[in-house]
Amino acid sequence: MSEWKKICLVTDIPVLGSRRVARPAGLDVAVFRNSQDEVFALLDRCPHKGGPLSQGIVFGTSVACPLHNWTIGLADGCAQAPDEGCTPRFKVEVSGGAVHLSTAELASHALDLTRPLAGPGPHAESGAVDAGHA
Ligand code: FES
Repeated sequence: MSEWKKICLVTDIPVLGSRRVARPAGLDVAVFRNSQDEVFALLDRCPHKGGPLSQGIVFGTSVACPLHNWTIGLADGCAQAPDEGCTPRFKVEVSGGAVHLSTAELASHALDLTRPLAGPGPHAESGAVDAGHA
């Protein structure tokens, strides 16, 4: 297995936007491009309440979470004070205009983190009906 996995071209990522990269296990990785064509990768999960950072607004070297507008640093994954907390970041290698992520990190980094579920949670009654097919 090679050390780096080619994800896409830098130009495949919208300027001031992102792409999501699915993994065999764990949450997606969000790959961001800023106005300087710098590329960053974070787990697609805000350290506040798990919002999808890939849908946030990129500015400078930060992204504004779409849920409650926390500012998260793209280089370190950390919330800007006074907010607290960090989301895991992933190593990015850009060569020949192509974006690469670490194969090992994609397979094993931050697999324990899940997205908080919206709604009533596990106490809700199941609406499933067993049709009793024989
Ligand atoms: S979930 Fe991102 S700011 Fe609240």
